[in-house]
Formats: sequence, C-alpha cells, structure tokens
Amino acid sequence: MDEISASKAGTFEFDKDFIINRLGYGTMQLTGNGVWGPYKDPDQAVDLIKKSFDLGVNFVDTADSYGPWHADTYLAKALKEYPDSDKIFISDKVGQVRTGENEWTPVGAPAFLRQEVELSLRLFDRDHEDLLFLHRIDDHYPIEDQIGELKKLQDEGKIKHIGVSQVTLDELKAAQKVAKIDAVENMYNVGHHKGDDAIVDYAEKEGMAFLPWFPLDTGNLTKADSPLNDIAKKYNASSAQIALAWLLKRSNNIIPIPGTSSEDHLKDNLNAANVELSDEDFEKLSGLEK
Ligand SMILES: NC(=O)c1ccc[n+]([C@@H]2O[C@H](COP(=O)([O-])OP(=O)(O)OC[C@H]3O[C@@H](n4cnc5c(N)ncnc54)[C@H](OP(=O)(O)O)[C@@H]3O)[C@@H](O)[C@H]2O)c1
Repeated sequence: MDEISASKAGTFEFDKDFIINRLGYGTMQLTGNGVWGPYKDPDQAVDLIKKSFDLGVNFVDTADSYGPWHADTYLAKALKEYPDSDKIFISDKVGQVRTGENEWTPVGAPAFLRQEVELSLRLFDRDHEDLLFLHRIDDHYPIEDQIGELKKLQDEGKIKHIGVSQVTLDELKAAQKVAKIDAVENMYNVGHHKGDDAIVDYAEKEGMAFLPWFPLDTGNLTKADSPLNDIAKKYNASSAQIALAWLLKRSNNIIPIPGTSSEDHLKDNLNAANVELSDEDFEKLSGLEK
C-alpha cells in the first residue's frame, strides 16, 4: 500500500515561513448536531486531530463558530499536547454568531471581529493568527470597516494573512482594495463548481490560496449512489479520493480541507494524494455538473 501522508499532495506557499501540505483538515465535524454543542466524544476528537498531524496534515481550517468554541477547544488541546505544534498552521474564521443548531448569523461589527481574534489567540496560546478569514461579509457594515479591522490587526502583528469566505468576484475585488487578500474560501466541489470556476482562476492568477469548503459535498459524493463510483472503481479508489484528487488537479492553489470524525475516513481522504487522475478522466469529472 502507498504511504499515507498529506505531504504527497504537494505544497502551497503563503510565505517562506508558511508552506503547507495541500491536503488539510477541517474541524467542523467535531461538534454536535447542526454544528452546535460538543462532539459526543471530546477525547476522540483531540486524538483524531493529533492523528491528522501524524499523517502530515499541517493546515487546519477552523472557526470559533463551530460549536461554538467546541471544535477550537479540541484543536487547542491537540496543539498543546503535540510536539512541535508551532509548525501546524491554523486557518481561522471570524464574523458569525450562532443562535442554535444550523443557525448562522453574520456579525461584522469591527469590535466583535477584534474580540474573536483576541479570544482565539488566547485559546490557541499564540500571538498571531496564521490565516484569518472574514467568515461572511455582513451587509450591515461597510466592507471597508470589516476588512479594515482585520488590516488593523494585521498591522499590529496579530494576523499574518487575511482571507474572505463565500464571496463573489466583485466582493473579492472590493476586499482587495482594503487589504492584501491571500486566500478565498468558498463552497466548491466536483459536483458544484461552475459558479466559482472564475474565482478559482482569478485566485490562481493573483497567487491566492483557494479553500473549497464542502469538498465532499458534505458527504454526498461518498454515498452508495455517488456519481464518482465508476471512475473510483477504475482507479481502485474511494469516491472521496476521486472528489479530492479532482480538486488537487483542478489548480495548484486549491487546498482541500475535508472534514471527518473518523480515523478511517481521515486516512482514506489523505490517500487521495496517491490518486493521479488522467486528463481525460479529469475532463469527464469536470463535466458532471449539469
Ligand atoms: N467557510 C465556510 O463558510 C465553511 C462552510 C462549511 C465548511 N467549512 C469548512 O470546510 C470543511 C469541510 O466541510 P465539511 O466537513 O462540512 O464537509 P465535507 O468535507 O464535504 O464532508 C464531510 C462529510 O463527509 C463524511 N466523510 C468525510 N470523509 C469521508 C470518507 N472518506 N468517506 C465517506 N464519508 C466521508 C463525513 O462524515 P464522517 O465524520 O463520518 O467521516 C461528513 O459527513 C469544514 O470542516 C470546515 O472547516 C467552511
């Protein structure tokens, strides 16, 4: 069997001190139902995050709104218990409040964004965020105020790189007028990509990272009736691996961050780095979305 390691997916360079393996991990599954409340087995959650580090993951996507705070608490514990954890990069997000299961409300008040960054740094015991996304633009505040506050925090040394999440191309360009934007995080997977192909191409041209959220279409692409089954069979791979291999081949600036609560699925996902799609199959997969 091929070695399982996120390092086999290649790397993306944010800067010379921030070079990450292109298969990361997203913490959102490590919560209760509807991304609300604690995960059923917090110790298992911490162990799973540490297992991902063992397998070469050095880029973890998270947000205080997952739980809220529960996923971040497990991540903080894993980082504390793991040797050399300063080499693990955190991709964090601010700008959403939670009011219950599956309820998300953007709040872009600058003082709130600042508080979230300060509380996250305190929890992670770090003096800066490696990569900090505005989780959603809040229409109640000018974008200049929201990205502007992140820029202030960057000037104070508390954020290294700024990103924007679930944006249109126009919103991305508006954010770029306020600060240097180094990453975009939008919903994007082999089954739903057409609407954002232009953003991926623009991000690549600008040298930005693109984090596709729901890389497995929140598990739908892995189900028994997955449209990826035939190609998966051909590669002796799982449908999850085909979905992730498509993203890795789509553009070198894409960093998939599949979420899972299972060690078997974690290994399965990282093994996608060993699947090399032919150009022909890549094109076939690209055409799946009608
Ligand atoms: N910026 C944003 O607005 C935003 C929004 C949503 C998500 N995100 C980020 O994106 C990350 C990924 O999204 P996600 O976790 O919601 O969705 P996802 O990665 O598309 O899919 C996760 C689902 O797939 C299942 N799964 C994972 N690997 C599998 C495998 N190899 N075989 C079969 N099933 C598998 C998981 O169940 P098991 O637990 O059983 O494996 C879970 O139900 C999140 O963790 C979060 O960091 C960001």
